Amino acid sequence: MSKITITAALPYANGPVHIGHLAGVYIPADIHARVQRLRGEEVLFICGSDEHGVPITLRARKEGVTSQDVVDRYHKIIGDSFKDLGISFDIYSRTSNATHKELSQAFFKNLYDKGAFREIRSEQYFDEQAGQFLADRYIVGTCPSCKNEGAYGDQCEKCGSTLSPTELLNPKSALSGTVPVMKETINWYLPLDEIQESFLNDWIGGKGDWKSNVLGQCKSWLNEGLRPRAMTRDLEWGVPVPLEGADGKVLYVWFEAPIGYISATKELRPDDWEQWWTGDTRLVHFIGKDNIVFHCIIFPAMLHLRGDGYVLPEQVPANEFLNLEGQKISTSRNWAVWLNEYLEEMPNRKDELRYVLTSIAPETKDSEFTWKDYQTRVNSELVGIMGNFANRVLVLMHKYYGGVMPSVGVVQEKYRLFDRGDVVGGKHPMVDDYIKPVVNLLGNYQFRDAQFKMMELARLGNKYLAEHEPWKLVKTDADATAQVLSEAVQVLFNMAMLMEPFMPEASGRLLGQLKANPDAHARKDFWMAGEGSEGVWFELAVGHELGEGGLLFQKIEDDVIDAQIAKLQAAGAANAAVLAEAASKSNQSGGENDKNTVAAMEVAAEIKPEVTYDDFAKLDLRVANVVACEKVEKADKLLKLTLEVGEETRTVVSGIALHFSPEEVVGKQVLLLANLAPRKMRGIESQGMILMAEDADGKLVFMSPSNAVASGSGVS
Ligand code: MF3
Ligand code: ZN
Repeated sequence: MSKITITAALPYANGPVHIGHLAGVYIPADIHARVQRLRGEEVLFICGSDEHGVPITLRARKEGVTSQDVVDRYHKIIGDSFKDLGISFDIYSRTSNATHKELSQAFFKNLYDKGAFREIRSEQYFDEQAGQFLADRYIVGTCPSCKNEGAYGDQCEKCGSTLSPTELLNPKSALSGTVPVMKETINWYLPLDEIQESFLNDWIGGKGDWKSNVLGQCKSWLNEGLRPRAMTRDLEWGVPVPLEGADGKVLYVWFEAPIGYISATKELRPDDWEQWWTGDTRLVHFIGKDNIVFHCIIFPAMLHLRGDGYVLPEQVPANEFLNLEGQKISTSRNWAVWLNEYLEEMPNRKDELRYVLTSIAPETKDSEFTWKDYQTRVNSELVGIMGNFANRVLVLMHKYYGGVMPSVGVVQEKYRLFDRGDVVGGKHPMVDDYIKPVVNLLGNYQFRDAQFKMMELARLGNKYLAEHEPWKLVKTDADATAQVLSEAVQVLFNMAMLMEPFMPEASGRLLGQLKANPDAHARKDFWMAGEGSEGVWFELAVGHELGEGGLLFQKIEDDVIDAQIAKLQAAGAANAAVLAEAASKSNQSGGENDKNTVAAMEVAAEIKPEVTYDDFAKLDLRVANVVACEKVEKADKLLKLTLEVGEETRTVVSGIALHFSPEEVVGKQVLLLANLAPRKMRGIESQGMILMAEDADGKLVFMSPSNAVASGSGVS
């Protein structure tokens, strides 16, 4: 048995975690960690906040607070929400702590002393107004390949090209909006070109078992030929470069953040942390596709140069991206389902989220989350198939046998769950057709298929009940009824076991209802099916007392889903309005160093795809007067507005109750999207949507005309 160190990408502490992060990284990582623990392996599951890097300082600037304030806020939000969802990290650390500073500096110094770096003097962009060098996202400009005007100094998010600041056309400072000058500076580079020849080509060449999306990216990097890459930056926020005369320089965030996995290990296990990074330890990195080069090329190159027995990753099961309701998820555009908000709004639906996100995990290509699909999967799969099966079995067991496993008289072939032929010869269909396939798929990091296979046991159980109808059989054949229900209980038990890594709470509830609690040893044999053990399945013996049943999952009603969709739409509209406002401000300010310039650049970088005039002309925008307004009962965020639109009166439900009291809204002129298809929220039909802007502090602002105009006036 070897140790397994499982890492999940350290999320940037510049915003909460969203469903894209969960589906791509944290849920599969958690399933994997749980399975390995169940198999009796020695596991450390490591994560923490990535607290350096330019997006954090930009956010701090935008909000007028310090970078430390930003990371303190989000470190807490992110850490709490992971815990609440049941992500079973052994530690959730952070890269602004002292252990990390010390360890990443020591790592740098070690490579430096070995002569691993190339010291390169070069000209870099410098913002004279801000008095600062402009690395990575501090600089924006036009992408040389796709001409996107909002490309960053390290990457164009539109076409995905990796860039360096000097490749941008029309470069501008993201701090001040001014045109930067060139200024000389020294930085330390990792000679990736040499390391490619001496090590990376061969090493990656031997990774035939990596996922094809991962290998594809690696090969394309290698085919293009790696170039030296700076491991230091002229910035203030970060881990200081531990060299004489390197004042004002910090370690490149992608140099130190992965070392964060090691520092977190050291923090958790001060005495034996090295064992988790050396010897025959198996290292597995769970990441999203935008992190592939860093985990498959740069970090392994660092570990290789470091030597000292450090292990390299055995697997990097990177996923593609999850889209949301037809668009790319975006933190800056607030186009996301945020984990912390989900948990607040649906505190009893954790496993539902885990289940749905695993069902649609972007394992081989980008995939899509929609609220309607979420509702369908919960209602028809979890409630309709799994919950219904469990409930029927338990209810009937209590009704006919007082909850005690009955003895079955003469076993009748035609009522068997599995054909007898399959059972002989040490093989059992429960093991061979269900448990082993789930275990194998999980071993191949195919979480989506593994969960689907687990679900097939629920489908099997339901089909079996439907076929034999024990509720009818009971009138004619007592033995057969006992046989069918006993076999159904066995299906339920094994299903509950297989659910454990995917839906730990629901699995625990169901095992509780069955009053079944196999010990670690039995669980290990179960999860080692076909690998360390012949495979076992579970049965409850005659006379075993079952616990009380109870609904495993609750149906989700339309209004809950509609409210979520409305919330997203409000974010979309607020975002469009902010964009318009910020863009016009940044034009007027002539590039003044103000918060809005940064906001405008950050937001403008992600303008939605272009629409035709005809598409635009389909929208009917009107000025409306708010004549009445009240809170919507039992909905914290919703206000019901009565609008006068010319001759007409409209009702609109809007998610602005946390920003405005009803009294503040009455009498306002607002901008109304008048021909949005009506939708019901909390039983009220909302006939249109009011458009709002969001300012840099997240405050909402009505889009009122600067001079009052007649209500009903068109806007174009
Ligand atoms: N913060 C990065 C991101 O969210 C991930 C860093 S992973 C680490 O994309 F290895 F660098 F820590
Ligand atoms: Zn581009």
